[in-house]
Amino acid sequence: MKSPRKIIIDTDPGQDDAVAILLALGSPELEVLGITAVAGNVPLPLTERNARTICELAGRRDVKIFAGCDRPLKRKLVTAEHVHGKTGLDGIVLPEPTMALQPGHAVDFIIETLRREPAGSVTLCPLGPLTNIATALMKAPDIAPRIAEIVLMGGAYFEVGNITPAAEFNIYVDPEAADIVFRAGVPLVVMPLDVTHKALTSRAWVEGLRALGTEAGRAAASWTDFFERYDTSKYGSEGAPLHDPCVIAYLIQPDLFSGRHIHVAIELEGKHTLGMTVADWWRVTDGEANALFIGGVRRDAFFDLLTERIGRL
Ligand code: BDR
Ligand code: CA
Repeated sequence: MKSPRKIIIDTDPGQDDAVAILLALGSPELEVLGITAVAGNVPLPLTERNARTICELAGRRDVKIFAGCDRPLKRKLVTAEHVHGKTGLDGIVLPEPTMALQPGHAVDFIIETLRREPAGSVTLCPLGPLTNIATALMKAPDIAPRIAEIVLMGGAYFEVGNITPAAEFNIYVDPEAADIVFRAGVPLVVMPLDVTHKALTSRAWVEGLRALGTEAGRAAASWTDFFERYDTSKYGSEGAPLHDPCVIAYLIQPDLFSGRHIHVAIELEGKHTLGMTVADWWRVTDGEANALFIGGVRRDAFFDLLTERIGRL
């Protein structure tokens, strides 16, 4: 087997972030060098705590977890307790984590890791607002050409917005950070709502997870149940979109997904459209492609992968 792909997961857990982290930890194709927490779905003290809870649940107290930026670059933090609950991980009560947070700032960990590891060997996987990643790129511009790829969840084109009519949450919370990342010249793969709204859970899938009979399976099922209540009432769909696991699934099995190499710009000024990902899907400008913007997923295979990998934990 090929040596595992080295990744850093930058995250604001979040139930769907949690499922993404479990997927990564259950997958031998990936080596999680560290998890960096950022403020997003809930404030930083909760996102870093939740990251530790998830790793303990997976029996992986060895994973390095760092706390990062506690607010967006220029704006007041917007959170999403209305989706994720007060703790960010509502749905099941888990023990207070005891594994320690690493000393040092997440941004420095990202910079030091990219400088230490061979150029082109580390992939960044942002699952929340892009504050940590943009701060690292501003503080140490030399890291940009060393990043293998950034595979992120954020944005939308056909599905437009979920936190405002025009913007997706991760990009809306810190649009200036997103702008820096989208213009950094780093290979970018974007999982927008256009694809994650096709990665809809089903009752049978959730019950299958529960039937695994493991702690990880039970927790993932309970998180999904909690998360679903918001989305099913909002969208009238059968299940909930599992946004963030799309990022990790792409790293393991890219052929599950389809998309287009296009130019994507971040709206920083619009009165009604702040944080919109203006995606040139129809290639109507000569803007140079800066992202692989994903639009399709093979849903059944995606969910089979999740069950199989979470089942290994
Ligand atoms: C994104 O926002 C968060 O609430 C989810 O964790 C996901 O990263 C979806 O818009
Ligand atoms: Ca997230």
